[in-house]
Amino acid sequence: MAYPLYRPRRLRESPLLRKMLRETILRTDDLVYPLFAVHGRGVREPIGPMPGQFRLSIDELLKECKDAASMGIPAVLLFGLPAEKDPRGGEAYAEDGIVQQAVRAVKETIPDLLVVTDVCLCEYTSHGHCGVVEDGRVKNDPTLDLLARTAVSHVEAGADMVAPSDMMDGRVAAIREALDESGYQETPIMAYSAKYASAFYGPFREAADSTPQFGDRRSYQMDPANSAEAMREVALDIDEGADIVMVKPALPYLDVIARVKNEFGLPVAAYSVSGEYAMLRAAGQLGWLDEEAAMMEALTGIRRAGADIVITYYAKEAARLLERGRA
Ligand code: PBG
Repeated sequence: MAYPLYRPRRLRESPLLRKMLRETILRTDDLVYPLFAVHGRGVREPIGPMPGQFRLSIDELLKECKDAASMGIPAVLLFGLPAEKDPRGGEAYAEDGIVQQAVRAVKETIPDLLVVTDVCLCEYTSHGHCGVVEDGRVKNDPTLDLLARTAVSHVEAGADMVAPSDMMDGRVAAIREALDESGYQETPIMAYSAKYASAFYGPFREAADSTPQFGDRRSYQMDPANSAEAMREVALDIDEGADIVMVKPALPYLDVIARVKNEFGLPVAAYSVSGEYAMLRAAGQLGWLDEEAAMMEALTGIRRAGADIVITYYAKEAARLLERGRA
């Protein structure tokens, strides 16, 4: 296969041939749309570093969910901002917590939309860490029970799937066991397995008011330089009962997505995080790049790397473009 016998450009000349030979197809069915729920009514508060994203009271969140469902987006991923924070993140596992209320409302109004919940404590703790803090350190084992309670409370409210994002060791097993004991053997877990300590979460932490009040998350989230360790994390989560494994963030970790896809047989999710959204949004708003084209290229790239599911704040924009067949 050498020039001049082989000429790759032969297959690039015609738009129809290009379309026919496209290897990676991004579909609306692949997308998950993250949303932030807050207490109150009629609240639609813009998130500064994430233009186009909002903190939504449940009535507004329902509108957003109806919109997403009508566009064919199969799932939302819910985060919550509690009325009050405390050291043990009590509202995370309260029966009438903001996420539990939101889940009930969405499942009642739009039963066909899949509701996935983020299971973590950082939005709910006064110190902003994802676990229980003792002696100035984030403690692993005392956190597991709280995470398990959170997951069960979400499923009791009607969540279709839970997504633990805390990165404590053993949380998937603890959650699987608690769900099974509560009779929810059929509810899947999408584990944030390879979750890196990333600067790209910055805008999210402003949105969710979850910046750690001391230190950082590097004692539990992964070092961005590591990929062999990501394989160990994924293997552990699979052993503990994860049904879908996630790599997060997405764009700076495409190699990790590819490795996970190739080395394990499970469905892979990739979370294109707040900072990835913010970068493209900002450059688009400044007129420095074609935001729509860059967005579709980024999402397609994440799929090409091996992600079966892409979690993105651009879900609606992407669905709209895919509907128009322009992508
Ligand atoms: C909670 C959580 C975070 C994100 C998802 N779940 C923040 C963090 O770990 O600090 C980030 C999502 C995003 O940036 O879009 N632990």
